[in-house]
Amino acid sequence: MTPAELKAFLSAGERKTFLRFLTCGSVDDGKSTLIGRLLYDTKLIFEDQLRTLEKDSRRHGTTGEDIDFALLLDGLEAEREQGITIDVAYRFFATDKRKYIVADTPGHEQYTRNMATGASTADLAIILVDARKGVLTQTRRHAYICSLLRIRHVVLAVNKIDLVGHSQEIFRTIEREFRDFADKLDFASLVSIPISARHGDNVISRSEATPWHEGPTLLDHLDSVDVTSGREVLAFRMPVQWVNRPNLDFRGFAGTIASGRIAPGDEITVAVSGRSSRVQRIVTHDGDLDEARAGDAVTLTLEDEVDISRGDVLVPGAQRPEVSDQFAAHLLWMAEDEMLPGRQYLLKTGARTVPATVTELKHKVDVNTLERFAAKTLQLNEVGFCNFSVSVPIAFDRYRDNRETGSFILIDRFTNATVAAGMIEFGLRRATNVHWQALDVTKSVRAELKGQKPVILWFTGLSGSGKSTIANIVERKLALAGRHTYLLDGDNVRHGLNRDLGFTDADRVENIRRVAETAKLFVDAGIIVLVSFISPFRSERRTARELVGADEFLEVYVDTPLGVCMARDPKGLYRRAQAGEIKNFTGIDSPYEPPENAEIHVNTVDLTPEQAADRIIARLRDSGLIG
Ligand code: ADX
Repeated sequence: MTPAELKAFLSAGERKTFLRFLTCGSVDDGKSTLIGRLLYDTKLIFEDQLRTLEKDSRRHGTTGEDIDFALLLDGLEAEREQGITIDVAYRFFATDKRKYIVADTPGHEQYTRNMATGASTADLAIILVDARKGVLTQTRRHAYICSLLRIRHVVLAVNKIDLVGHSQEIFRTIEREFRDFADKLDFASLVSIPISARHGDNVISRSEATPWHEGPTLLDHLDSVDVTSGREVLAFRMPVQWVNRPNLDFRGFAGTIASGRIAPGDEITVAVSGRSSRVQRIVTHDGDLDEARAGDAVTLTLEDEVDISRGDVLVPGAQRPEVSDQFAAHLLWMAEDEMLPGRQYLLKTGARTVPATVTELKHKVDVNTLERFAAKTLQLNEVGFCNFSVSVPIAFDRYRDNRETGSFILIDRFTNATVAAGMIEFGLRRATNVHWQALDVTKSVRAELKGQKPVILWFTGLSGSGKSTIANIVERKLALAGRHTYLLDGDNVRHGLNRDLGFTDADRVENIRRVAETAKLFVDAGIIVLVSFISPFRSERRTARELVGADEFLEVYVDTPLGVCMARDPKGLYRRAQAGEIKNFTGIDSPYEPPENAEIHVNTVDLTPEQAADRIIARLRDSGLIG
């Protein structure tokens, strides 16, 4: 379909209702075939496309003389080659009663991410099961994710019913097993249908081979199920994508309306600041509107000059969202790297992106049994319930109240990849009761009294690289010169403050988070603080850097090669790690990510620790940090 045809499809025959649905199933469950069948039988395929299809089917030859409906979903070459769908594709078709938008989402385990993307606007999900295989873990996972995403209507399509001899007994067994599970998920409707996507049984017309099936055909059900979504009756929400200010006379706030309606004259409030005004005009490419609603991309002008910037959310004063810097949310983890509480990610909700951390993983959910259990991290495709902390207060709704303003994604700060999808359950108000106490003696007063500039010297490097030895000499020299210093050493801090932490990735993240916060306090006290920790991850070193001013952090990379550290093995730990007596040892079976832009680079192969220390002192002098 060309964009013009699509536009015509979406706008023609306004009286018809829309139904957005998605299909989920495992790779071979017949998802693509089913969608192809729906598109084909509802005749929304163009002649030339059909001809290519016939040609393709013959060439691929997987279905004999029949048309291979899976090929209809032109989609991605990769899918054909690997037999998996790798992205969400939207398909459109119509019947006399309804217009349909299908999110064709991947079935392969690791592509749950795309399912979440496709599901966010869906009213209904078709969960496909291969009649020969029955309900799989994957089936339960999909059903659970659908319920988390608050897709209220589910169709269990038991496909390939022809391959089990149209057996009623097999169908009933699968249906019962699925219902037992889905009962806990609180769907508004659940209908089971035996189908053969390949041959069309019970897809559009009733199959003679399943006289025992008394329910509707798939399309009958889709045409009649009541899925009033209510997006338009929700409170008005518009995240401001950008502020349009072509000249001094015009100032408009552009964005897509997430929910509700708006008209000129309506009162409007900026969610976080609480400032209010009234809508003056609703400007669009095709002229001004008398009213705009969910899904419309518009520019609003206001009656008063109000301070509004990108990322703000415009709302009615009487229906404000929650505003908080802490909340609890369900998190669907979609990255190969595990989720690490304490690590900083970017959280994007609406038009706003802010640094965020998981402060606590409350529990993980077993998708097979829906049981909750304690865990430290989340792995690929796992779902957990977490507390979050964001760097500044943001506006949001509960996901159950508003799917648009209650959802977010997490982004990795280094790779920019989307690593998780989140559904906000409720705001946490604890932090709002804790305020910053204004103190009379400030950082600069403290520093001045000591006659120095505070700074963090952050030593990173492998165990045995010489960090602590060098840091020790640097501190001694600084002390001799009358400087006020403190040395935070990994081994020492792990005896007290961080006594509860081990060496898993999650524990190391927390180890560094705590020592970074501690170092920040020392900087606040006006002290030159030396931190000597392996600190193997870039992400946490960067977070530590960002806690203080740009001129208050110097990273010292003690770049002694692993082989040298192993040969020295001052504590005999490498030997034990290699013998398998110590797990997660840095450089052996736990990663070290070297700094890319350390201010100071030394090693203890070409330099003695004394010389390395002198270099660092010289650098402090050059930077004007010491006299
Ligand atoms: S970090 O990775 O979390 O920054 P940290 O610097 O606190 O590590 O502690 C490292 C010290 O703990 C090492 O110098 C070593 O003496 C000791 N240690 C014990 N077990 C391990 C391990 N599995 N990996 C690294 N260091 C270990």
